[in-house]
Amino acid sequence: MKLKIALLPGDGIGPEVTAQAVSCLQAVEETFGHEFIFASASVGAVAIAETGDPLPEDTLALCKRSDAVLFGAIGDPKFDNNPDSKVRPEQGLLKLRKELGLFSNIRPVKVFPTLIGNSPLRREIVEHTDFVIYRELTGGIYFGEKTLSPDGTSASDLCLYTEDEISRIAHLAFKAAKNRRKKLTLVDKANVLESSRLWRRVVTKIAESYPEVALNTLFVDNAAMQLILNPGQFDVILTENMFGDILSDEGSVIGGSIGLLPSASVGERYSMFEPIHGSYPQATGKNIANPLASILSAAMLLEHFGLREEADAVSKAVDRSLREGIVTPDLDPKSKYGTDDVGHFVATHIADGEDYRGLNKENIGLGKSTII
Ligand code: IPM
Ligand code: MG
Repeated sequence: MKLKIALLPGDGIGPEVTAQAVSCLQAVEETFGHEFIFASASVGAVAIAETGDPLPEDTLALCKRSDAVLFGAIGDPKFDNNPDSKVRPEQGLLKLRKELGLFSNIRPVKVFPTLIGNSPLRREIVEHTDFVIYRELTGGIYFGEKTLSPDGTSASDLCLYTEDEISRIAHLAFKAAKNRRKKLTLVDKANVLESSRLWRRVVTKIAESYPEVALNTLFVDNAAMQLILNPGQFDVILTENMFGDILSDEGSVIGGSIGLLPSASVGERYSMFEPIHGSYPQATGKNIANPLASILSAAMLLEHFGLREEADAVSKAVDRSLREGIVTPDLDPKSKYGTDDVGHFVATHIADGEDYRGLNKENIGLGKSTII
């Protein structure tokens, strides 16, 4: 398959982790005989520094010419600490989502057996965690009208949803549930918010077309608690933009590291793949950032285009790196492996497939063969 992939590495550790995802995609290309054409463009704080715009026209145009976008990370503390700054890196990401029509953000959360000990929760609570969040991504309070009174003492953000916006993501979530454990949980705040009551009405109606899927509903405050008490009860979680933002960060710590969680944002025409983690400025340039979330995002990209065997090869190579302890210090503080060692290990094992016989850990990072 021939795919044009736009690379938007962005800020902080974005470029380092994206580089490793690219080398894994190149391993897939060679091993399975595909043609991936990569082209990079800037976004976020880096783009502001270059052009004054967090999403320059050229970047958007590149994304629109591509089959998929691989995104790194966005954000810079310089902007976070200044509520008055008119331009922010995050605006680049939000505009990209809107312009590309990426209304559905898919965030799988599962626990890797070898990492259960890293979770802040007890083993028996987390061990059966395997759910996916369908977060609406281009509507709600993120994109509603914003106001600030002239004297700066009152402000508002409108949370607006239409039936169509709810229904298009709801169908995707029900289809996903049908192929999984057939349970869909709608998370809302229908005891307080009119927009949530609309979500309930629309989703309950759509559920009639998916009789094999059991629909249940939870208020978001209760859902936040249930995720910690019993994450194993969830299969597919469907929710609006801001609730999904918050719950997916909460979900990401269940497995022990936010550095492992990928995501896909899809619309009718375009798709974008990005790690859930942020730009982690403290780690920038130190070769310690975990590249696995970015690599697994590349696996989601492959899956999106129907390249299932290829996606599996990437996931298996990632599992192997976890099993063998070829991980960055966030997963093992004593680890001597860097971002590039982990990426190199995974890329090498994509090519090796199941023919793995053993490995010489001493050689990793020395540029020598890792296989003995
Ligand atoms: C995310 C991020 C973004 C969001 C920020 C960077 C605007 O937190 O993708 O979850 O809030 O959607
Ligand atoms: Mg977030």
